[in-house]
Amino acid sequence: MTAVNRQLVLNSRPKGMLAPGDLQLKETAVPGLQDGQALARVKYLSIDPTMRIWMAADSYLPAVAIGEVMRSFGFAEIVESRHPDYRKGDRVTGFTGLQDYVAVELASQAFQKVPKIPFVSDTVFLGLLGINGLTAFFGMEMAAPKKGETMVVSAAAGATGSIVGQIGKIRGCRVVGIAGTDDKCNWLSKDLGFDAAINYKHRDWKGKLAAAVPDGIDIDFENVGGEIMQTVLGLMNLHGRVVVCGLISGYNKQDPGMMSLGTVILKRLRVEGFLLLDYVSRFMEAATQLGQWKMFGKIKDRETIVEGLEKTPDAINMLFTGANTGKLIVKI
Ligand SMILES: NC(=O)c1ccc[n+]([C@@H]2O[C@H](COP(=O)([O-])OP(=O)(O)OC[C@H]3O[C@@H](n4cnc5c(N)ncnc54)[C@H](OP(=O)(O)O)[C@@H]3O)[C@@H](O)[C@H]2O)c1
Repeated sequence: MTAVNRQLVLNSRPKGMLAPGDLQLKETAVPGLQDGQALARVKYLSIDPTMRIWMAADSYLPAVAIGEVMRSFGFAEIVESRHPDYRKGDRVTGFTGLQDYVAVELASQAFQKVPKIPFVSDTVFLGLLGINGLTAFFGMEMAAPKKGETMVVSAAAGATGSIVGQIGKIRGCRVVGIAGTDDKCNWLSKDLGFDAAINYKHRDWKGKLAAAVPDGIDIDFENVGGEIMQTVLGLMNLHGRVVVCGLISGYNKQDPGMMSLGTVILKRLRVEGFLLLDYVSRFMEAATQLGQWKMFGKIKDRETIVEGLEKTPDAINMLFTGANTGKLIVKI
């Protein structure tokens, strides 16, 4: 019997949140191997806001074509190999796509081997030691925090924001997080050591944010955009720095959230766009530091795990309703 490879292919470009049928489940045969290839069984999928961008239009990567397996990052295990660099049982992370099996090609740089570390879960390679930890590490390098400065991070209880805030504390900043539920805010201030956490769904959140930054804001680590970013910019100090990491509030809209350039001029802010792909050659350095911080209890991470490839469309929507805390992962 031929084994089946279930795949989620892009069937139509979503308008707003993903609708049933935008991603369609398809069954194909597991790819046969040629010399120079290895076959990997996908175990975990990284669910990232940028997937919504890849579904919509060309950006820093080409849009996923209609009918193509939806692009995603994931964790997989080699089950068969005719590839000189991979053996059965090796574990890899990379662009697996939303499917059960993926062929690893000889010349491909899309995969990286990851070690088995005692007492460390496989999923850490998708979150703290994956896209989000690395984004937080290099994004904070761009922010260049100094001891005593005030930093605000939005989507603070998410995979990236929660690590960003903890690095801010390690660097000696006053850190204020913005998140969408009281539970998330309690986690940030009680467990992760944020100095304050503001629920932006409370009517008086803007006043509470202003009160939480009595000395103004020196760094905005921006993950959301729109009204949240505009409010934060209004509280910034002269010559503050803004790391534009993400603008999730705009990803489901036709017009992605634009920042208020007027405030940038008025406050002489240094605004810089961040893209993780620019740092590939330094991933190992960052992962080593993040791993040490985790080992010594200086950084805590949390995951929200959804089970089943077929649940992936719902999982992607969870990023936009805020149903995740920490890293969102689909377990296949
Ligand atoms: N530039 C890069 O290389 C790079 C790399 C990775 C991630 N990013 C960006 O970083 C941001 C966070 O990504 P992540 O993977 O760590 O996701 P995440 O923060 O784990 O999940 C997204 C969170 O965003 C919040 N959110 C969603 N819609 C919102 C809205 N309209 N207004 C306010 N908050 C909203 C939700 O939390 P609440 O409950 O708090 O609303 C949700 O849990 C995204 O903008 C992403 O694109 C950029």
